Formats: sequence, structure tokens, C-alpha cells
Amino acid sequence: MTPAGRVITFEGIDGAGKSSHIEALAEALRARGREVLLTREPGGTPLAERLRELFLHHEMDPLTEALLVFAGRRDHLRVVIRPALARGAVVLCDRFTDATFAYQGGGRGFDRAVLAQLETWVQGARGEEGGALLQPDLTLWFDLPAATAAARRAAARAADRLEREDQAFFDRVRAGYAQRAAADPARFAHIDADQPREAVWAQVQQAVLARQEG
Ligand code: TMP
Repeated sequence: MTPAGRVITFEGIDGAGKSSHIEALAEALRARGREVLLTREPGGTPLAERLRELFLHHEMDPLTEALLVFAGRRDHLRVVIRPALARGAVVLCDRFTDATFAYQGGGRGFDRAVLAQLETWVQGARGEEGGALLQPDLTLWFDLPAATAAARRAAARAADRLEREDQAFFDRVRAGYAQRAAADPARFAHIDADQPREAVWAQVQQAVLARQEG
């Protein structure tokens, strides 16, 4: 019997340290015999990766940001995510629509009602239009103070357009995530990312493997 497909998303402000845990989780789930698809947003298909480059490196207004990430998401869902779910894979996605609500909604202060409309259009159905909204089965929210994340980013890599935003922006993004998590507590697992790597990994395992999402 084909196992049920699952979508697990990884969220948090830049510098929260989610990337290495995505790889580790993929390995743990594969060791359990699951097909795992590792992907990311913006991106995940050739078209969406091109949109990602535009998004990360060109100045634009918040509505254009939202339209680009949702355009990429539409392609990602059609070409990669839905087919993987149909095969029974576990899809591990580094950021998804919660990032749009947190960054464009929270960080930029853009109208969340418009984002919700785009979400409905783009994720409107598991299979056919008019079906249930496709949402992740589980969202791991790597949460830590914006100042701590900024220090980590400074040590780690050259900043892209969003990573150059100030701390007040990332405070608003963090609040945006908190708002999404409060609206859907069953889907969100809060991960305290302001801890050593091993302690964070223990929380990830607890959230995913204990819930048998794999
Ligand atoms: P990352 O893949 O290196 O985390 O970079 C993606 C950046 O894009 C990150 O700063 C978060 C931002 N972003 C948005 O602003 N809106 C979105 O919908 C998504 C998916 C990401």
C-alpha cells in the first residue's frame, strides 16, 4: 500500500538555523524507508528558481513580491509537490506560504486579506479546483529573537536583499509567524531555536517522529 503523502514545512526568520535540520530529517525519514523530497521556496522548479533570483536581487513593491512568490508556488505545486504527494512521498519544504504571511504580511505590512486570496487561488485544491486548501501537514517554526538571528547571519554568509533588512523588520516577521501559528496551532510545532544544535534537533525529532508524520 502506498503510504500517505505528507508535506512538512520549515519556517523562521533568516538565521534561525533550520537548513541543517532539514537535511538531517530527510536522512532520518529515508532510514525509515520513506521517499523524501527536499525542496524550497521561493524555488523548487526551473521556473520558480528563476523567479527566486528576481525576487532576491531586484527592488520591488510588496504586491510584486507576493505575486512572484505565489507564481513560483503555483508552478512548484503543479510540477513537484502534488505529484510527490500522489506517490506517497514526504515533502520537506524549506519555507512555504507562512513565509509570505510573515515577510510580506508582517515584515512589509502588506494586506493579509490579499495574501489570503492568493493563497486560496494558488493552493485551492489537492486535486481539482474547488477542493480543500492544500496546507502543510506539519510546520516546524524555528523561533528565536531577531537580534540573535542577526548575529548568526553576520557570521555565516553574504546577505541578500531581505537579509539586509533591519532588526525591526525581522521583529515584525517574527510576529507574523506568531500570528500564523496562533491561528492554526494544530499544524504548527514551535521549535525554540535559541539553543545548541543538538537541543534543537531533539525538538525537531520530537515534533516529527513522535507525531509519526514520517
Ligand atoms: P532563503 O531560501 O535563503 O531562506 O531565502 C528566501 C528569502 O525569501 C528569505 O529572506 C525569506 C523570503 N521569503 C519571502 O519574503 N516570502 C516568501 O513567500 C518566501 C517563501 C520567502
